[in-house]
Amino acid sequence: MRQAGRSLPEYRAIRERASMFEVMRDPALTTEVTLQPVRRLGVDAAILFSDIVAPLAAIGVDVDIKPGVGPVFGQPVRTMADLAQLRRLDADADMPWVAQAVRLLVAELGDIPLIGFAGAPFTVASYLVEGGPSREYARTKALMRTEPALWRAMLDTLADISLASLRAQVIAGASAIQVFDSWAGTLSAADYEHYVLPSTRRIFEGLIDLNVPRIHFGVGTGELLRLMGIAGADVVGVDWRVPIDEARRRVGAGKAVQGNLDPVLCLAGWDVVEPAAREVLAAAGDAPGHIFNLGHGVLPDTDPDTLKRLVDLVHTSA
Ligand code: CP3
Repeated sequence: MRQAGRSLPEYRAIRERASMFEVMRDPALTTEVTLQPVRRLGVDAAILFSDIVAPLAAIGVDVDIKPGVGPVFGQPVRTMADLAQLRRLDADADMPWVAQAVRLLVAELGDIPLIGFAGAPFTVASYLVEGGPSREYARTKALMRTEPALWRAMLDTLADISLASLRAQVIAGASAIQVFDSWAGTLSAADYEHYVLPSTRRIFEGLIDLNVPRIHFGVGTGELLRLMGIAGADVVGVDWRVPIDEARRRVGAGKAVQGNLDPVLCLAGWDVVEPAAREVLAAAGDAPGHIFNLGHGVLPDTDPDTLKRLVDLVHTSA
């Protein structure tokens, strides 16, 4: 998730003098902002500071990350000809700062694992096709159904780009990876299975030989949880809409679940967070295979002290 960093004053201080991409392309700055939430909150893992559109920027796609908005593309991809914007990613040559940052981080983190990540093909495609964030995904869904060959080519290309980025992060030392299909929940299960799952599976299968835990996350994916596991993940992330015990049943045996406190509750203060967090822990029970997390990213106005108390509560309840 876009997680703890953006609620921290020390993060904002860095962002006042450096843009998102400036932070990402500077391994020392990336290391610093990745460590900030670990230092301040005592979380059990760090997530690399980057963005799901970073690999596209690295291959020369015209993309900006607008504060308060998200990724915005200069030339949306809507035809076979547009697809030529997407060439293969050679992570070592195109984004050497990523492996450099991972190596610095692994040295600093010691026993604390670093999670690498990438965007899933559908969510990245939704930004590319719409040109930016969207509510309805109208162009994306239209293209998916009217031009299935173009759609498949686009998603497979995006899968290969994300896979190349993930492999580079793991080879540099990341000890787990997370694939974000944040907006897959806009699809029916049938459409997800037909139009999206095969491309996402390419990513998970392409990581098997590296032998790291693979997490698959989306928002509003209650109806997709089983399929998201089938796509090849070891862990399926769940937002707050489905109780974690029910999510476990939907995901099925042999996989772990991650989640699922509503991050909005963290704005309401500790008296609201504490009982809600205890409910998640109770629903998860004592069986292994639950990673406590928020159901989506931390909101920027969240009080870091509330997050710190939440981490402490989870640690003392475990
Ligand atoms: O939070 C972290 O430090 C982890 C690194 C991280 C970022 N983006 C940095 C970031 C991660 C894991 C992401 C993933 C990401 N990026 C996703 C998938 C996860 C999710 O939250 O659903 C998505 C959909 C994006 C695309 C994106 N980037 C959006 C929608 C936005 C929000 C725009 C806003 O300002 O609300 C971004 C910007 C972004 N990426 C921020 C951070 C910390 C916002 C803070 C800033 O502008 O400095």
